[in-house]
Amino acid sequence: MNFLESDRLYFRAWDSSRDKECIFQPMKKDSVEPIIKEFETALLGVVICKKSSLNVAENPPASESERIGILMIKNIPPSQVQNRCADLGIELRPDAQGQGYGTEVLRWALNWAFNMANLHRVQLEVYGWNEVALKTYHRVGFQEEGRLRKAVWRDGQWWDEIWMGVLQEEWSL
Ligand SMILES: CC(C)(COP(=O)(O)OP(=O)(O)OC[C@H]1O[C@@H](n2cnc3c(N)ncnc32)[C@H](O)[C@@H]1OP(=O)(O)O)[C@@H](O)C(=O)NCCC(=O)NCCS
Repeated sequence: MNFLESDRLYFRAWDSSRDKECIFQPMKKDSVEPIIKEFETALLGVVICKKSSLNVAENPPASESERIGILMIKNIPPSQVQNRCADLGIELRPDAQGQGYGTEVLRWALNWAFNMANLHRVQLEVYGWNEVALKTYHRVGFQEEGRLRKAVWRDGQWWDEIWMGVLQEEWSL
């Protein structure tokens, strides 16, 4: 078993010099730079790639079309390492969404987090308008743990900010 792959995907290390364009959502430069910094210091920061017919273990391809997204499990500040709790972030290229890749990536990442990095808890925040993400997170085992009601104003209405988490003892592939 190769620990850097799942059924349809493989995962390689983030490389700031060539992967900046993998941050797909249109963002101002001010918003992208902090994300890049987080990637550079992340516990796990990977580029999600589609497997091709090549033997990826021997010959990792780097073409644009094979990169479909990014995933990060953020660094834990030194004063909090005893909590073994980290934040997760994921983004897929728009044309790669809706095909089950998000579920596949998150299952791989949670397996890494709990069975290899021995984290105790993985958590994230998601906004109420993001129904696809909410459904995906629930599907892989995240539970809703808190809700900041009407915390964000967008497109002429208020939306909740939802906190979700999954614990090591709840996780099984
Ligand atoms: C949120 C996100 C990661 C979810 O990933 P995704 O691949 O779109 O979502 P899923 O894995 O749940 O798959 C979605 C659909 O693909 C379908 N699908 C199609 N082919 C499939 C296959 N071969 N295997 C499994 N599912 C498949 C699933 O049935 C599912 O549909 P359903 O929810 O109606 O049942 C992704 O949409 C994304 O990057 N969004 C933009 C960034 C973002 O919002 N990030 C999260 C911020 S908190």
